[in-house]
Amino acid sequence: MNRITTALLGEHGVFYALFDHLEGSLEDAHCAGQVKARAGAVASALIGHARVEEQGLFQALEAHAALQGPLAMMRLEHSQIEEAFERIQTMDDLPAVQQLARQIIGLARQHFLKEEQVIFPFAGRVLDESASAALGEQWAVQRGVNRIKVHANGGSNLRW
Ligand SMILES: [Fe+2]
Ligand SMILES: [Fe+2]
Repeated sequence: MNRITTALLGEHGVFYALFDHLEGSLEDAHCAGQVKARAGAVASALIGHARVEEQGLFQALEAHAALQGPLAMMRLEHSQIEEAFERIQTMDDLPAVQQLARQIIGLARQHFLKEEQVIFPFAGRVLDESASAALGEQWAVQRGVNRIKVHANGGSNLRW
């Protein structure tokens, strides 16, 4: 396990909770709009996660021939999931929206498992500590969580 895969795995953990919540709320939805609003919130977060992976970890691993096929598959699945989320926003029939939402959640869970079982462990083997730390830093910039600077003396720019 290294910094960048730990960060991405942490994001997966949050998404699993969001997928469970979305899935659990499907049966009680009164209208398509309610499901679409909930799905839209998950979609925007998930699209951000996919971009962070593509522009960071995936790019760093692309030079490894063994991973080119799996990475192409992961990028394809990102676009398939994104397109399905766009399609759901054009639909108005509640049962159809519920069914597509279930399919997307299933696809996303499978996609995450492939990353966790193939991509992240591979990254753990081939990225050295400095490459992983640099990707971790890039992740923090993309995620906007690098705004608080901790100084060498232990102080920070945060005022309590
Ligand atoms: Fe992904
Ligand atoms: Fe992921």
